[in-house]
Amino acid sequence: MDTRPIGVFDSGLGGLTFVKEFERLLPREKIVYFGDTGRVPYGTKGRDTIIKYALQDIRFLKSFDVKAIVIACGTVSSVAFGEAAASADVPIISVVKPTAGAAARCTKTERIGVLGTSATIGSGAYKKAILELMPDAEIKSRACPLFVPLVENGYFRRDNQLARLAAHEYLDEFSGDVDTLIMGCTHYPLLRGVIQDILPGITLVDAGLETAKATVKMLEQNDLLSGKGGGTRYFVSDSTDDFARLASIFLEHPVADMVEKVEIEKY
Ligand code: DGL
Repeated sequence: MDTRPIGVFDSGLGGLTFVKEFERLLPREKIVYFGDTGRVPYGTKGRDTIIKYALQDIRFLKSFDVKAIVIACGTVSSVAFGEAAASADVPIISVVKPTAGAAARCTKTERIGVLGTSATIGSGAYKKAILELMPDAEIKSRACPLFVPLVENGYFRRDNQLARLAAHEYLDEFSGDVDTLIMGCTHYPLLRGVIQDILPGITLVDAGLETAKATVKMLEQNDLLSGKGGGTRYFVSDSTDDFARLASIFLEHPVADMVEKVEIEKY
């Protein structure tokens, strides 16, 4: 039994798609969450900047004596996993492998779509991970750079016209082409309703959910489960109010008293 928290980070709200599922699966685990809202988005930045941010995020989480780290960010997982793992000193998990594995299990046609940030799609990380499992798979990838700012500004409701317009622009080409579509950026499952309405017959694979399931397994295998306590502390690098408001809507419970601000550049 290990009652230390797990550390989870993302550029902003996206990693909450992991938190929501993980809290449901293992309510007795403590989480320290960092959302780098002062520097979001990561997915339009260059590799060096993404690595620098990831290492600062990990240094901050390590100050809580975390027992494991979850990179709840497709961009860091795709671009900087090696550097992140080398600096972690504790078990670390990325979103790419669990999500690619779930897509390979879901597809019947071996035609898989991948959505992600520009950095994620540019890295080819999901494609590589799928082809390792399914060498004959055909993979169609698309960067969706407007999705993260839409989510961070609260435009993620199913009937939001701006989100629907952006989603049509990115997704129409997948209709009738793939049977499985990876939401490879953890922000995208907040747009699940919008995406599913445009592609009703396609199975959506959620990077937050798949990573939550993989983290449960990883904690079990490393004998790191807590079994008592629980609760999540949230840290952000910009306004706590904006984050708390949107996080409370998505998580469906109030988080205002649990959000603190951190000067991430100090780490
Ligand atoms: N949610 C992150 C991801 O999975 C970061 C997106 C961004 O900041 O651009 O890629």
